[in-house]
Amino acid sequence: MLAARPRTDLGALIRLTELADYTVPFTVRVVAELGVADQLVDGPRPVTELAEATGAHAPSLLRALRALAGKGIFTEVEPEVFGLTPLAEPLRTDHPLSLRDAYPLLAADVRAWAGLGRSLRTGEAAFPRTHGTDYWSYLAAHPADSVAVDRWMSSLTRLHLRTVLPAWPWGQAREVVDVGGGDGAFLAGLLPRFPALRGTLLDLPHVVAAAPELLDRAGVADRCRIVPGSFFDPVPAGADLYVLKTILPGWDDAEATAILRRIAEAMRPHSRLLLLEAIIPAGDVFDVAKLVDVHTLVLTGGRHRTRDELVDLLADAGLRLDRVVPTPTLTVIAAGPAGPELTSR
Ligand SMILES: C[S@@+](CC[C@H](N)C(=O)[O-])C[C@H]1O[C@@H](n2cnc3c(N)ncnc32)[C@H](O)[C@@H]1O
Repeated sequence: MLAARPRTDLGALIRLTELADYTVPFTVRVVAELGVADQLVDGPRPVTELAEATGAHAPSLLRALRALAGKGIFTEVEPEVFGLTPLAEPLRTDHPLSLRDAYPLLAADVRAWAGLGRSLRTGEAAFPRTHGTDYWSYLAAHPADSVAVDRWMSSLTRLHLRTVLPAWPWGQAREVVDVGGGDGAFLAGLLPRFPALRGTLLDLPHVVAAAPELLDRAGVADRCRIVPGSFFDPVPAGADLYVLKTILPGWDDAEATAILRRIAEAMRPHSRLLLLEAIIPAGDVFDVAKLVDVHTLVLTGGRHRTRDELVDLLADAGLRLDRVVPTPTLTVIAAGPAGPELTSR
């Protein structure tokens, strides 16, 4: 059989070149870190002023901003004068859902990404092979990177709170445990809205170290217990709700099942587990979960899952799917102890 001739679709070639280029992801991260958007809140300014205010080299900052403006992030309102656009606004520190810290450019991550080819050939995470240690142990030993990752998670959590809080009757619970809850950003956003709700934050010791200040600032420190520890060990028992927000995708099936078993052991018949994560949809449809999934392959060796894969994982841990509530960001997947009172899928 003759092979079909390749098609010369110039539009496709140009689009592919744009998609394959990594200038924008790198540049937007560094411009965010410089704080350029903060310098534009009162209106457009010449790049020379922006450079002076942010400690940048003016001719180089011009090249970076010009590249981003071509993608709608900032706008060059007149030669060498830049202003904010809707895509640049969230890079402001004072934006209520600021994403300024959401895209750190971490050298350790970039070095791991260089090993993607090996990950695709072997299925092994690139990060441990590059750095000789797993992702979470690396962060424990590198405090500056760890803080950057916690800030990145907290930025996304503020966005998640907007979409996930209306999707579940949180006010019906009295006690919620956020398992792997990072620096407490989720509980700091949740508890003020539900004055009768009490929280427990469980995460690794160096991560929860930042929580007291955050919870105090949110005015909920007196309703929130902090438990430094591992979710591979027994977790606090008897709560109404257990939250696992963007946790399971970081682990392979055996590890994810071990985490779920710890929670199943802690649950009572009325308890519910809420997985807050992105589900991989079928087919070609774009979903950010499919991108973050590759990120997960590189960094931790975990994986995002389809709905059916999650149901199987839950079943292996003695849990049963109760309800699935999609939101514009994460999906809320509620599960309870396997028992006759829950409807099956
Ligand atoms: C992807 S982050 C998610 C954090 C938070 N749930 C959120 O959505 O922003 C994964 C979290 O798991 C925590 N973690 C990793 N290994 C852990 C362990 N063995 N026990 C408890 N937490 C752990 C990390 O410190 C980190 O905060």
